[in-house]
Amino acid sequence: MPGVLWADPAFLRANQYRSDTNLRARQSIYAFQRPHVDLPRAVLDALGAEGGRPLSGPAGTVLDVGCGNGNYLAELGRRGHRGLLVGLDMSKGMLRAAGGANPEAGLVAGDATSLPLADGSIDLVLAMHMLYHVPDPPAAVGELRRVLRAGGRLVVVLNAGDHLAQLRRALRDAGDELGMLAGGFGERLRLEQGEPMLRRFFGVVERHDFVSELVLYDLEPVRSYISSMISSEAMSPGRLEGYVRRALQRLSRGADGTVRITTHPGCLVCS
Ligand SMILES: C[S@@+](CC[C@H](N)C(=O)[O-])C[C@H]1O[C@@H](n2cnc3c(N)ncnc32)[C@H](O)[C@@H]1O
Repeated sequence: MPGVLWADPAFLRANQYRSDTNLRARQSIYAFQRPHVDLPRAVLDALGAEGGRPLSGPAGTVLDVGCGNGNYLAELGRRGHRGLLVGLDMSKGMLRAAGGANPEAGLVAGDATSLPLADGSIDLVLAMHMLYHVPDPPAAVGELRRVLRAGGRLVVVLNAGDHLAQLRRALRDAGDELGMLAGGFGERLRLEQGEPMLRRFFGVVERHDFVSELVLYDLEPVRSYISSMISSEAMSPGRLEGYVRRALQRLSRGADGTVRITTHPGCLVCS
């Protein structure tokens, strides 16, 4: 998907995230991750461990901004979180998908850049894999900080520069071969860029990295992953097919016949 569309709220709402189909296609590739990292669990563990403080207390208020299909809401439910829990997303299709994740969670349609909440009303704000979709990330961070109570925490998840590096390289090379402008697969906002940006807003920013890899024999999951990123408006089905075929051919296999692709998200715990 061209980078400009990746941060176009109208396009994201009406196309990429009209439902959770594309997101699920991308989430399902992590079944091939070795060792497997359960990201919601790992991030919330990191949060619990940080400074020895429990997860915002049993009655803390939690807001998950850009909650998608609700993986973090579900994990909070499994942990027995009893305080007010709200998932907010700008896509109604996503909120429908999030409905089953945690029946205790309230769901609200809204935008990260103008939250329908009072100043200082939330103990813990989550912004997981979503700040790179916002046209002006610092403005969104200012808004997320506005709703935090004094002493509250913001947790941001972003991908590092080497996340899916082998796949990105294959896509770029395939695009070059076809004379396409195949930009847009790099993250608009990487973990390395998010950290200094967040330091402008918060006194303490703790970083936790989660490095692993995808190990694949069959590349069908990678095909689905790539297809989920590219809208039919951006590329005809025939062109997409040729592009994906070339990219898959460029992924090199090791001596054991597997393709290995680095995964590297990280979380930034801000207070
Ligand atoms: C990559 S998904 C991540 C979903 C979820 N946070 C997770 O980590 O599984 C990005 C989500 O952010 C939502 N989103 C993007 N921009 C947004 C904005 N400005 N305000 C609210 N939600 C937004 C999208 O609709 C989508 O559901």
